[in-house]
Amino acid sequence: MAVVTGKRQTPDSRYYIGTGKLEELSLAVAEHQAELVLFNNMLSPSQERNLEKALSVRVVDRTGLILDIFAQRARTFEGKLQVELAQLRHMSTRLVRGWTHLERQKGGIGLRGGPGETQLETDRRLLENRIRAIQKRLEKVGQQREQGRNARKRADVPVVGLVGYTNAGKSTLFNTLTLSDVYAADQLFATLDPTLRRYQAGGQLSVVMADTVGFIRHLPHELVAAFRSTLSEASDADLLLHMIDASDERIDDTIAQVEIVLAEIGADRIPRIQIYNKLDLLENANPRLERDEQGRISKVWLSARTGEGIELLDEAIIGRLSGEIRRHVVRLAPTDAALRARLYEIAKVLKDEADETGGWTMEVEVATKDERRLREFGRAWMADKTGEKEGGESQVNFSG
Ligand code: GTP
Repeated sequence: MAVVTGKRQTPDSRYYIGTGKLEELSLAVAEHQAELVLFNNMLSPSQERNLEKALSVRVVDRTGLILDIFAQRARTFEGKLQVELAQLRHMSTRLVRGWTHLERQKGGIGLRGGPGETQLETDRRLLENRIRAIQKRLEKVGQQREQGRNARKRADVPVVGLVGYTNAGKSTLFNTLTLSDVYAADQLFATLDPTLRRYQAGGQLSVVMADTVGFIRHLPHELVAAFRSTLSEASDADLLLHMIDASDERIDDTIAQVEIVLAEIGADRIPRIQIYNKLDLLENANPRLERDEQGRISKVWLSARTGEGIELLDEAIIGRLSGEIRRHVVRLAPTDAALRARLYEIAKVLKDEADETGGWTMEVEVATKDERRLREFGRAWMADKTGEKEGGESQVNFSG
């Protein structure tokens, strides 16, 4: 293997790299008898083609490689379908005259259309058919997932989502906690699909643990779209555990990348604990908890591999789900009687005043783990956490 690096202000439109660099690359390919050149950048379809022609070897860009890895790691049916869809979409942008990868992939079976249909048209048609078929199946699988999620909502068990950069140790923690045999490996994307397991935090609080796909820098947009539904398990969680590899040299940047994805999937408002993992790799580090200015447990230092500090994590989960209480001001329309009854059932009602429209204004306190029981009345309840910074108060308006 040879690594060729270069610096350029702007990519060359034909080859991405300049002609001098192309020359260098060409020599390296010849010297090592390379069969494949990987670019750690996104190439346009024409750049990829021009490079393949110039170098006479296969050229794969960052997106293509990531898609390949995801395809190998996908474990559930839904994950496999999502990756295939992303791959086909990626391929369809690269489908031009004389481009026959698809044909080769399909083993060149005699699938041509009627006479007069060019290879390109046949390829396009096959691709579109396959994309449509996958979309249909994904819809079905998505419905099944939704049913499962609704059942969990009814069961009234809070969901704890594990998120983090690839290789942070999510699957390892998941295994340590739930003693399951989820595949953990020191390679990219060992986890591709959310996996759900029951867990008793501290032997007393029952939660559902949801493991999710590992994030990476500059996730190709094809994949962000593909994983939206997979990651919905995280955006729907009551509490997020953000796994961080404490031994990572680029730790700050990695944390920031995860924050970006969380914001993209609308999960940035969910209560979150940062887990500084791989404590065993650091010198003189002990398991510990850290709190934020509001006194909430915000960081846990532990080792998922050795199990050191796991009891602190339990304490953090219980503390954030049961011990954390938020105050909300809720305005109800006359038609919101069911919600009002629910609030009396699960919240501590501090104020309840009828207003001139026939509705009510209520001031209530709700534990984080009970907020999920209000979701059926609308997302507004979960979405508005604006008051959190000012002492746990928020304005929630259900009517209108
Ligand atoms: P993706 O599925 O790619 O998102 O990765 P992940 O976050 O699920 O990471 P995984 O659990 O697969 O762990 C990645 C690697 O880190 C594996 O080789 C683990 O054995 C290792 N690892 C996880 N936790 C620890 C830890 O506490 N200490 C040490 N030394 N290694 C750990």
